[in-house]
Amino acid sequence: MSGGQGDGEVCYQGDTIVLAGHRGRGLGLGLKQANIAHLGRLSPRTRRIHTWNAGENDHMWAINEALGQRTASIGEGWHKPCEPQRLLAERCAAWWTSTG
Ligand SMILES: CC(C)(COP(=O)(O)OP(=O)(O)OC[C@H]1O[C@@H](n2cnc3c(N)ncnc32)[C@H](O)[C@@H]1OP(=O)(O)O)[C@@H](O)C(=O)NCCC(=O)NCCS
Repeated sequence: MSGGQGDGEVCYQGDTIVLAGHRGRGLGLGLKQANIAHLGRLSPRTRRIHTWNAGENDHMWAINEALGQRTASIGEGWHKPCEPQRLLAERCAAWWTSTG
């Protein structure tokens, strides 16, 4: 998490990742709950946490809704893989498979 500019009332939550072999056991939800509790101790002035995730990411969506987060805005992005991107994506997938 990171704080925005100003009085600390707004905070930004970035990526949440659970190793592939440990997903579906409540760790993602527990991680975010612990993070929010920690933030409450570090920054009691914070009143709002902004986060974002892909619309098709049902797991993250479920966690955010369980934590009471509500959709504030929707963005749209397009990408067209080119050769270097495809090679990079394959290497990342191989890395995740070997480490996850
Ligand atoms: C998103 C992510 C962090 C969730 O972590 P997790 O530990 O698997 O999540 P939880 O076990 O806490 O599950 C929370 C909810 O997600 C859904 N969910 C989790 N695993 C699921 C599965 N295998 N199938 C269907 N739904 C699932 C459920 O709704 C679950 O709630 P429930 O326990 O009431 O059924 C994990 O899937 C991940 O690391 N994904 C890759 C990285 C990513 O996409 N991060 C999000 C963008 S920042």
